[in-house]
Amino acid sequence: MGKTLAYKILENHLVEGTLSPGNEITIKIDQTLTQDSTGTMVYLQLEAMDVEEIKTELSVAYIDHNTLQTGFENADDHEFIKSVAKRHGVLFSKPGNGICHQLQLENFGIPGKTLLGSDSHTPTGGGLGMIAIGAGGLDVAVAMAKGTYSLTVPKVLKVELTGSLKPWVSAKDVILYVLKELTVKGGVGKIVEYTGDGVKTLSVTDRATITNMGAELGATTSLFPSDENTRKYLAAQGREKDYIPMSADPNAVYDEVLKVDLSSLVPLAAMPHSPDNVDTIKNIGTIKIDQVAIGSCTNSSYSDLMKVAEILKGKKVSPDVSLVISPGSSKILSKLAQNGALAAMIDAGARIIENACGPCIGMGQSPKSGAVSLRTFNRNFKGRSGTLDADVYLVSPETAAVSAVMGVLTDGSESGVHLPEITEENFAYNDNFIVYPKDTNKGNTKVEMGPNIKPFPQNTNLPDTVSGEVVLHAGNNITTDDIMPSDSRLLPYRSNIPYLANYCFEKIDAEFAARCKEADGGIIVGGENYGQGSSREHAALAPLYLGIKFVLAKSFARIHRSNLINSGILPLVFKNPGDYDTFTLGDKLMIKNAREQVKNPEIIIQNVTTGKEYIALTNFSELEIEMILAGGKINQIKG
Ligand code: F3S
Repeated sequence: MGKTLAYKILENHLVEGTLSPGNEITIKIDQTLTQDSTGTMVYLQLEAMDVEEIKTELSVAYIDHNTLQTGFENADDHEFIKSVAKRHGVLFSKPGNGICHQLQLENFGIPGKTLLGSDSHTPTGGGLGMIAIGAGGLDVAVAMAKGTYSLTVPKVLKVELTGSLKPWVSAKDVILYVLKELTVKGGVGKIVEYTGDGVKTLSVTDRATITNMGAELGATTSLFPSDENTRKYLAAQGREKDYIPMSADPNAVYDEVLKVDLSSLVPLAAMPHSPDNVDTIKNIGTIKIDQVAIGSCTNSSYSDLMKVAEILKGKKVSPDVSLVISPGSSKILSKLAQNGALAAMIDAGARIIENACGPCIGMGQSPKSGAVSLRTFNRNFKGRSGTLDADVYLVSPETAAVSAVMGVLTDGSESGVHLPEITEENFAYNDNFIVYPKDTNKGNTKVEMGPNIKPFPQNTNLPDTVSGEVVLHAGNNITTDDIMPSDSRLLPYRSNIPYLANYCFEKIDAEFAARCKEADGGIIVGGENYGQGSSREHAALAPLYLGIKFVLAKSFARIHRSNLINSGILPLVFKNPGDYDTFTLGDKLMIKNAREQVKNPEIIIQNVTTGKEYIALTNFSELEIEMILAGGKINQIKG
């Protein structure tokens, strides 16, 4: 039976397990990337593991999210990351170099390799034929320490491309179409593999736009074959030596298939407030717009911005529109400056902003109240722009540029504006923004920990008797944001768990942190779906810092449950959900023989205050039991 490209790469990297959907496997990780927003925690965790040397072939620490330096906190975070990077042999990309995924593609991505990144859009690397997966910070730290990553084998969904795109239709429209067909849940538990004759009509950066937004499908990753276009792209970056051709076997068998005729596609937009709420621009109509933002890791490549420059050349941005453009990398910005494209943009009335995530992560450029904002980004959830009542539409760079000139959402193919063909160019080698960890010597490289950086909170081995008082009796559907808010007030403190912990559960119970400190930690009783929402690790780390021993709930959201186990906090499930009502704040609970009991499917909890006994379900895998006994993943790795 022929093999898919995804399984070929996974097989080449298989360390443990059997490659069949649903099985747990461990794979070798060749490369890792971090960005600064998640990176500080990754490197605090790496430090806490006390590893002698990292095991990956290449690891890069990028600074692209919190590049605004209005106070010392972000600057201190950057310095901390730089110093740990030097200590462990990790490359450091300075702020100003660009967006992590664009830079990884340009400088380091290699067909057939594996990449694990602490950012959900790491699958951008699939444009080069890599298995590139976004993961939690601790997984990335462990990948650096051990060189491996464990995952459940996904199914493989084939997207078969035929034909070629018409003018004014681009890669962004391809992924918007796929999102419309499959929805934001359509990729869950799957790798999306692109094949077919249409593949050769797409450049590597087109492909990267498509694999980038595979994250919005919920897919584990997405990838394209490595072919002649891949060779050309690598050659243009001065890296032809990294090229190897790779593709699926002609008779490869896929779990699911979606066929897309590229020639039939038209300009599309994702309407508020979801990336899969897609319709044709023609159907949406000529709505008036207030802001256009071009850039992000999805659409900031050289050819994307050259198309924008060509459309803007000799024209004027509508008086009612604010147009902002952020190039993806320093190399792209430099090239646009050299060939006059930057001048064409500025002369048309565009604001050029730093080559970083910028408005995509809410760092500036929030639109005015009630605004309509067209963005070439990948997400349009309510409030992500920083303006709760703004309507954000996701579109291609060419649609964004022509609409900025017209002042209304415009289908370029009906605008009468000529769109010239853009040819890729060669880029001069320039690594002046990269700091190499030359002469790394762990012993004499000092880690720079400014006052905003606090050590990673550590747990101890699970004691034989676990006890504490109930410090919170929470309701159903508690989100990770309820547990640990992450608004602009708290964002600069992501590397300062003791500070953040003061705000733990503040929206639900403002006294929670003070109560934990008074009682020397304790136990949380929760309802259904405890810990739903984003995968935020801080929602487990702040409770860990406050001394939470276990959470007893009716049910848990999957990722938060793993984050609790990673931190050595036991997630226990009521055998009888009705018991939930019998607990009161301040009740003293105790688990005797905890080290033995966690190995069983059920565990006995005593309420010392009322004298009652309860049964809770554990459902721990063998690996989870090991972690719990050790007091969390880091302790387990340290051994
Ligand atoms: Fe940055 Fe937005 Fe991409 S925050 S990494 S540009 S999704």
